[in-house]
Amino acid sequence: MTENRLFSGIQPTGEIHLGNYIGALRNWVSMQEEYEAIYCVVDLHALTAPQGPAELREATIRTAKALLAVGIDPDRSLLYVQSHVPQHAELAWILGTLASMGHLSRMIQYKEKSEKGGQNLGLFAYPVLQAADILIHRVHVVPVGDDQSQHLELTRELAERFNTRFGEIFPVPATITPKIGARVMSLKDPTAKMSKSDPDPKSRIDITDSADLIRKKIRSAVTDSGIGVRYDTEDKPGISNLLDITAAMSGRAIDELVAEYADLQYGSFKDAVADAVIDGLEPFRSAYSAMTDDYVRDVMASSAERAIDSAAASLAGIREAVGLS
Ligand code: TYM
Repeated sequence: MTENRLFSGIQPTGEIHLGNYIGALRNWVSMQEEYEAIYCVVDLHALTAPQGPAELREATIRTAKALLAVGIDPDRSLLYVQSHVPQHAELAWILGTLASMGHLSRMIQYKEKSEKGGQNLGLFAYPVLQAADILIHRVHVVPVGDDQSQHLELTRELAERFNTRFGEIFPVPATITPKIGARVMSLKDPTAKMSKSDPDPKSRIDITDSADLIRKKIRSAVTDSGIGVRYDTEDKPGISNLLDITAAMSGRAIDELVAEYADLQYGSFKDAVADAVIDGLEPFRSAYSAMTDDYVRDVMASSAERAIDSAAASLAGIREAVGLS
């Protein structure tokens, strides 16, 4: 069997930010060439945090549109909405019976989110549904940012446990994280990751932000005391984050950027960072504004049909293996 199937997902909550783009989406685009890729807007996962029905529906379309505008090619890859393919949820139930409570309660994202209030069973079981997303398609690799590593370890554990009990059904999928930008940090606190749930919108750049707003946010990014542009994540986390962002958006090496910007004042350096981000996102911005919601709905519908065919065949084998008739 060729080892070339890939799955990844993104939640339709808030806007897609530069962390999502650099840590995940731009790699999803390039990996389509090499892999049979399956991408998913995970609306069932989004239900674990309270939001209005109209808001969720709208965010689902907007997220799918952004993925298409970034360059996911629906003729080559699948791109669908998780809840349109009910096999994800059924497999999640089956895998839930193999998941240990102890392991789930150690999940960093669960701890962080439940500390902020709003504990619910869905939030606790979140990583099991994520494992089902991946395993239902029996994929080999999962490209994600750093913050998903722990969820993917659980996915591998569940695959192995299932295979030991019921026979070799699932490939054990590998995590792929980018060399640069696996953890893009907040512009306001370079020790915390850039996140959709940060209440301060200046902490992140949304990929739909205008050029002016991007420049303003980068100008107001927290930098470090002292002078000089150097890459040093301990002493200069703010500058290092901006260098990572610039390297990822321009395709240039960090060393080369440091050599060019070493003597710049922080203000001029930030202008160069803003130029790289604005230029890098320009093709996305024009594709996004030209795309209609109807086109996005058509792609989602036809992709979901194809995903259901493959997920149903996969689930039939799983049901058989565990003894469901
Ligand atoms: P989500 O929606 O939070 O994020 C989508 C992708 O963006 C990456 N990412 C980042 N990368 C670098 N720096 C950051 N600051 C940053 N913030 C987010 C995430 O690592 C992710 O790759 N649980 C997942 C969605 C999911 C999924 C899956 C992913 C559901 N099922 C199956 C992979 C496979 C999530 O909430 O991602």
